[in-house]
Amino acid sequence: APVLKQAAIPRYVGAALGQGHLQNATDPNFRTIAAIEYSGATPENEMKWEIIEPFQNVFNFTPGDVIRDFSRAHDFTLRGHTLVWHNQLAPFVSTLNGTDLLHAMTNHITKVMTHYKGQIFAWDVVNEALNDDGTLGPSPFLTQIGPSYIETAFRTARAADPHAKLYINDFNTEGINNKSDALLAIVKNLKKENLIDGVGFQSHFIVGEVPTDLQANLQRFVDAGVQVAITELDVRTTLPVTQAAAEQHPKDFAFVVNACKAISDCVGVTTWGITDLYSWIPGTFPGMGFGLLWDDSYVKKPAYFSVLETL
Ligand code: XIL
Repeated sequence: APVLKQAAIPRYVGAALGQGHLQNATDPNFRTIAAIEYSGATPENEMKWEIIEPFQNVFNFTPGDVIRDFSRAHDFTLRGHTLVWHNQLAPFVSTLNGTDLLHAMTNHITKVMTHYKGQIFAWDVVNEALNDDGTLGPSPFLTQIGPSYIETAFRTARAADPHAKLYINDFNTEGINNKSDALLAIVKNLKKENLIDGVGFQSHFIVGEVPTDLQANLQRFVDAGVQVAITELDVRTTLPVTQAAAEQHPKDFAFVVNACKAISDCVGVTTWGITDLYSWIPGTFPGMGFGLLWDDSYVKKPAYFSVLETL
């Protein structure tokens, strides 16, 4: 049977992978499907600050290395996620002020990127820097360092691994709106200094609410001189799934894949997981689910086939 990764060429088709799921001996389906169907990976949590630097200057690369090793064994395009973000920080980070936080941030970027130097296609250097209205924040990095923390983070990242593509990644920036306008302005400023290579569009969508101007929005970032990627795609709906939502779900996935496919500088599509069984959605959006391409029992959903046909 055809598989996603063959259909996706020349792009990669990735999935967020969790170490626990990859190594779960009682559930071989997760890693089997990852290996057979996908050509890319993003560690779902393993390279976030709280895991990778739990105490100041004490690094725990073991979980991230599991994802790296699996990616290497299967010749995946590996995305690094994420260096500077206000969520899932280690507790010590929020105790630091001013220049202490600045030094902790640059040390974090340098040490993590050096460990994975040459092994990561693209790093999400800064994640979710913007509010929906286009202003910066809320983030201890903004409060303690000021708006320049973004440029400093990218400058530090560029020096640490000159071969990694440097991305800014966000959500609610998939359509043309105040937030994506502000993101584009940040990208243009970083691009002037050759500090950025790409923009990640998380794409955590709700069934029936994919922005119709997704492709036009991706195009205006490409026109600014960067590549783009769909980095965390899922399309959720209220449970139990109505027949109308079930019918719209594969169409929404196809629409997103098609928007990326229409743009040569859209380098890949990553879904935020493989199976609804382990999706972050029910835990974060109570009463919702159905976001991914495989159901709770690892049965391929209609969206799997619509993506396969569209890729
Ligand atoms: C989520 C993970 O999927 C969960 O397991 C974790 O508990 C919280 O974070 N935006 C991002 C991702 O950039 O890192 C988030 O991942 C989902 C939203």
